[in-house]
Amino acid sequence: MDLFEYQARDMFEAHGVPVLAGAIATTPDEARAAAEQIGAGSGGVTVVKAQVKTGGRGKAGGVKVAKSPDEARSHAEQILGMDIKGHTVHRVMIAGGARIAEEYYFSILLDRANRSYLAMCSKEGGMDIEQLAVERPEALAKIEVDPNVGVDDAKAQEIVDAAGFDEADKQGLKDVMKKLWTVYRDEDATLVEVNPLVKTEEGQFIALDGKVSLDANAAFRHPDHAALEDKEAADPLEAAAKEKDLNYVKLDGSVGIIGNGAGLVMSTLDVVAYAGEQLSGSTGGDTIKPANFLDIGGGASAEVMSNGLHIILSDPQVKAVFVNVFGGITACDEVAKGIVGALDALGDEEDRPLVVRLDGNAVEEGRRILAERNHPRVIIEETMDGAARKAAELAAAAN
Ligand SMILES: Nc1ncnc2c1ncn2[C@@H]1O[C@H](COP(=O)(O)OP(=O)(O)OP(=O)(O)O)[C@@H](O)[C@H]1O
Ligand SMILES: [Mg+2]
Repeated sequence: MDLFEYQARDMFEAHGVPVLAGAIATTPDEARAAAEQIGAGSGGVTVVKAQVKTGGRGKAGGVKVAKSPDEARSHAEQILGMDIKGHTVHRVMIAGGARIAEEYYFSILLDRANRSYLAMCSKEGGMDIEQLAVERPEALAKIEVDPNVGVDDAKAQEIVDAAGFDEADKQGLKDVMKKLWTVYRDEDATLVEVNPLVKTEEGQFIALDGKVSLDANAAFRHPDHAALEDKEAADPLEAAAKEKDLNYVKLDGSVGIIGNGAGLVMSTLDVVAYAGEQLSGSTGGDTIKPANFLDIGGGASAEVMSNGLHIILSDPQVKAVFVNVFGGITACDEVAKGIVGALDALGDEEDRPLVVRLDGNAVEEGRRILAERNHPRVIIEETMDGAARKAAELAAAAN
C-alpha cells in the first residue's frame, strides 16, 4: 500500500524524522484557515501541495508557494480537482514554507533481485532524480543495507561518504537517515523515499517530501495501518471481498471467474481470455475477457463458495460465470452446496448463467448435488477448455 505524502509526513514525525508543519485541506476555505495557522511558524509563507499517489506533482503545477493565506486559498482552488497523471486531487496539504539551501535525495527500498535492502542517496536531489539516475548514475550512491543490521551509524557513514557530502553536514544527515531507517523497519515498509531531503538556510535537515510503501503481508502486526487505506479509491467490490477474506481482484471483462488455488485461477483467466479472442476472431464482436480473479483457496466451505458467488454476481459487468474447481483439500460437494445455496438465496431475479467444471475430490457427490437441484442456469462442463468456451459464448450472447 502506497501512502499519501501527508500520511508519510505524519509517520515520519511519529518516528522523530524532522518534518515541516503540515495540515490537510479539502476545500479552499480550509486551505486558507490552515495556511493562517501554519504560516505563523514560517514567516507567513506556506506551500500548497496536491495529495496524489503519483510523482511529478511539482512539474504538473500541483505544488505552489503562497505568501499569504489568501494566496494559499487561491492556489488550493486551482489545485483541488486538478488531474495529475490520471489522479484527481481531492486534498491538498498546506506545509510550512522552508528556506531551502540545498536539495538532496535519500531512499531505502526492498531490493528483490538481490534479496536485500538498498539505500540510495544523492547530493543532487529535487524534482529530477529519475533523470539523474539515467544520465549520471555516478551521482547516485547505491549502498546495500543488510536487513539484519539496518542503517546503523557505520552504514549511515558509508552512505554520506559515498554520496560525497561536506564533512560539516554529515552528522546531521546521518541522524535523519537513521531515523528514516526506523520508519522503514518498524512500519514494515518496502520503500521510504525522501525527495527532497533539504538543508535549510538555518542549517537544519528536513524531510520535505515523503513517499512510503507499506508491506501488505505485514499488515497483521500493524492494526493502525488499516486506517491509512484510501477508502475512496478502493473498488467497493474488492473492499467487500476483503471483508469476507476472499482473494478477489476486479478486472474489466464480462466473464466472472471462481476457482480454488491461485495457480488454477490464473490459468482459468488465460483459457477464458483465449476463448474470448477466438470467439471475437470468428464473430467480429467485442473481445470477451475475464471480469475478475477470485481464489476461494484450499479447503473452502460451502459458505466461502457462496460468498464468492455473491461478490461476483454483484458486478453488473459480469454476464456469465465460470466456476472452475479441482478438488484437492477443497471437496467438490462443498462447492456444489455453495453454488446451490447462493443461487437459491439470490432467487429468480438472478438470471446470469453459471458454467461449472468440477473435478477431483468428491466430484461424484458434487455433480450429484448439482444434478439433483437441476438449476436452469447451471451448465455443467467436463473440461476446462470446454467450460471456458461455453462461458465466453454465453457472455458474448448476453452483450
Ligand atoms: N514546504 C516547502 N517549502 C519550500 N519549498 C518547497 C516545499 N515543498 C516543496 N518545495 C519545493 O517544491 C519542489 C517539489 O516539491 P515535492 O518534492 O514535494 O514535489 P514533487 O517532487 O514535484 O512531487 P513528487 O515527489 O510527487 O514528484 C521541492 O523540490 C522544493 O523545491
Ligand atoms: Mg518530491
